Amino acid sequence: MLEKVRAPGRSASASDLYDWDELVQEDRVHRLIYTDPAIFHAEMTLIFGAVWVYLGHESQIAKNDDFITTRLGLRPIILLRDSQGVIRALFNRCTHRGTTLCRKDKGTARTFTCPYHGWSYLNSGKLRAVPWPDGYACDFKDAKYNVAQVPRVDSYRGFIFGTLNLDAPPLLDYLGGITKPIDEWLDRQPGGKIAVCEANRLKYKGNWKLAYDNSGDGYHVVFSHRSLLEMENRQADVANKGMSYYRSSPDTAPMYMAYMGNGHHFKDKRPAIEKRAGGLWAVEGPAPGTEHYQEELRRRYGARAEEILDLASSEPVNINVFPNFSLLGNHIQVFDPVAVDETDVTWYGTAVVDEEGVLGGAVDEINALRMRTMEQFPNFGEVDDLANFEEIQRGLGCLEDEWVYMHRGLGIPGRVKTDANGVIMAPATDEAFMREYIKEWKRLMKAEPNIAIKREP
Ligand code: FES
Ligand SMILES: [Fe+2]
Repeated sequence: MLEKVRAPGRSASASDLYDWDELVQEDRVHRLIYTDPAIFHAEMTLIFGAVWVYLGHESQIAKNDDFITTRLGLRPIILLRDSQGVIRALFNRCTHRGTTLCRKDKGTARTFTCPYHGWSYLNSGKLRAVPWPDGYACDFKDAKYNVAQVPRVDSYRGFIFGTLNLDAPPLLDYLGGITKPIDEWLDRQPGGKIAVCEANRLKYKGNWKLAYDNSGDGYHVVFSHRSLLEMENRQADVANKGMSYYRSSPDTAPMYMAYMGNGHHFKDKRPAIEKRAGGLWAVEGPAPGTEHYQEELRRRYGARAEEILDLASSEPVNINVFPNFSLLGNHIQVFDPVAVDETDVTWYGTAVVDEEGVLGGAVDEINALRMRTMEQFPNFGEVDDLANFEEIQRGLGCLEDEWVYMHRGLGIPGRVKTDANGVIMAPATDEAFMREYIKEWKRLMKAEPNIAIKREP
């Protein structure tokens, strides 16, 4: 059963809030898009309600009755595989007085019982029982008492997305060209599969778009991450370790940025990686404290160890799916807005799933090494970025200095190119992807999504 919802927070229409063309111009955006609570409030419906938003991975709810708790914008969600195997995104909200039903990160449950007055629900969302029902004159079989859920939930190769917008295109059309780098990233793994591991949870006092602005920013790396670059190279027994390709003339390095439409973009640093014997592992690994894995794998597998170790290396790509999902290195990064000036950033490790045994038993060592890569960029680099986001938010407190510029590469003849498929290509250090995604953001802020929720009949 679908219930149409008049977009909340749109007393009149978001188009009445501001002149969006004035706030988002070709080369700059107004500080208000990062600082105004009314804009943030509208975004929770017009962006996070209207497009496909990443919710979780199928491996996190591998068996019937498995669940995780997650978010869709500000809406707490229980993402689960119900007792019949159907993947659902239930609003984590009791239909009685609104309490969250589940306060755990993950688990297995056929039913959810509200901690407040004990109403209980099946994991299909249907109301199962109410304590002392004689105190009610109503018919609890009425579908309005069943838990609300996201009406459209779909996955792409294990990645689960949901949207409240009945008019949103099918997920595959929404993802469009960004499926190509996602496929390449997955197809590197045995069987083309991964499982999501534990999370590294971070938070910053800044607007969620600051993270998305930065997700393909190749301009800041040598400055913001200087200590990481220096540390990686101090540890290296070979020159130019890690992200060294950013150090001199990154504008003309063979990496690139590709804007794929619908706000999605891809920074491909693979062409900038030196081709060395031993592949990516020779460029990246090992980090201190992981040498023994390398030695053990070499001892056990001889020449084959190089190909096995390559799977423990971080693939040099940033694959960004608007508005909240990135695949980078061998991690998944998810951005969850909390308030206009607060965002949760979660990094998930990923493990290879060697169903066919092509790794000859090395799967545990490889997955241990993959988790240890959390100690590299996610721990040492991400904090640099979060510090920048917090300092931007503080800087934007200067009310009278209104504009934020994103015009790197704009107006230089031949610099930004559009290929036959409409993919916009630019140097990895340009802000072309930012200008493109924010145009899409502006289009969405002017649009009228067809928002609905679903309840079991
Ligand atoms: S709020 Fe859930 S049972 Fe009352
Ligand atoms: Fe960064």
